[in-house]
Amino acid sequence: MKNEFVLLVFFFITSISLIGQELELVDFKSDVTDILAFVDIIEAIDNTEEETQYNSFRPGELWHDNDGEILNAHGGGILEHDGKYYWFGTHLETGHQSYVGVRCYSSSDLYNWENEGVALPVVTNDADHDITAGCVIERPKVIYNELTGKFVMWFHLELRGQGYKAALAAVAVADNVTGPYTFIESLRPNAGHWPLNFTEAQKNTKYDYDIGRYTAEGRQNVVDGRYVVRDFKDGQMSRDMTLFVDDDQKAYLVTSSEENQTLHIHELTDDYLGFTGRYTRVLPGERNEAAAVFKHQGKYFMIASGLTGWDPNPARSAVAEDVLGPWISLGNPAIGTEEQIKTTFNSQSTYVLPVKVADDVYIYMGDRWNPANQLDSRYVWLPLYMEYGKPVIRWRDEWSLEDYR
Ligand code: GAL
Repeated sequence: MKNEFVLLVFFFITSISLIGQELELVDFKSDVTDILAFVDIIEAIDNTEEETQYNSFRPGELWHDNDGEILNAHGGGILEHDGKYYWFGTHLETGHQSYVGVRCYSSSDLYNWENEGVALPVVTNDADHDITAGCVIERPKVIYNELTGKFVMWFHLELRGQGYKAALAAVAVADNVTGPYTFIESLRPNAGHWPLNFTEAQKNTKYDYDIGRYTAEGRQNVVDGRYVVRDFKDGQMSRDMTLFVDDDQKAYLVTSSEENQTLHIHELTDDYLGFTGRYTRVLPGERNEAAAVFKHQGKYFMIASGLTGWDPNPARSAVAEDVLGPWISLGNPAIGTEEQIKTTFNSQSTYVLPVKVADDVYIYMGDRWNPANQLDSRYVWLPLYMEYGKPVIRWRDEWSLEDYR
């Protein structure tokens, strides 16, 4: 079609110029140059469009869906179901508030993504609804429950107009993978339950408003669990989060709690819609956010970021024999230049895709945030290698799964 259009334009301009030449109105030579330049431009447009058919990952480059629209699924995660991949993430335009909801895209090759629409829309006709337009929906993840046959979505929710104060985990459910998802509730996990790894002495400490987490002494108070004590009655805070499903189909919510100072890992009920009361504190006081958990050769691994808002920082990694811990820090997984290591290739983790690119290679998914123009918040997908029992991530300008096969 495009080529026919180019030919048509070419003949049109040639005829005009020949008529012009007859009438000695135009300079034939410069006209031919103009025509060729015009054809070049048309061809360039043609090529740009063809590039929405991808056969490689280009970390940090613009990435379009099958309609040519920029992929809009931030802080996302991927569910593999019936041989297809489904990418869920928050639709964002400017700022960090949600005015659309959680988007879903599908793909069979991980490069080319089909727009499946809004899986969980925000509510536009009830200003008091938990997910009313203008709330904050972050890091949605979807898992499939084999017992109930339902798709379960959890995400971090902040209530409209309250900044990041609410610190809630929220859950929605659907019969079809692409939705629509029905919002169930938002809550602070495990009210009235102590973490499994909390001592009697810790249970008996008191929370004092002024625990001052920025001093060495205050930090010790955090490590000692004062925020857990404070939030025991109403439930633990839950901000940046991810989901992990183990081989035995038990699922876990991994979340930044205690004012983002400590991760909590909560076991979900068999239907994945609630909490069992079993949870642990992980790396107390180490300020991990944006956790992504995966399993390799029977061990559990985690990639996380530090706490610098939308700005990138050095990533962290950790390993555990049991998903509920104890977790042991393994340091920064990024290998590269000083700048790349300092900023995790200018990205913040959101998910590790457990697709075996090769025996010891998975996919690290990160966000390169641009809150002023979220359409330009880019995706950074890189190969994650397991080397000597540790995850490591290296930069690639462009790469494909085929590179490893
Ligand atoms: C980041 C966090 C994001 C978002 C942001 C808000 O540290 O990873 O998910 O919550 O803070 O400032």
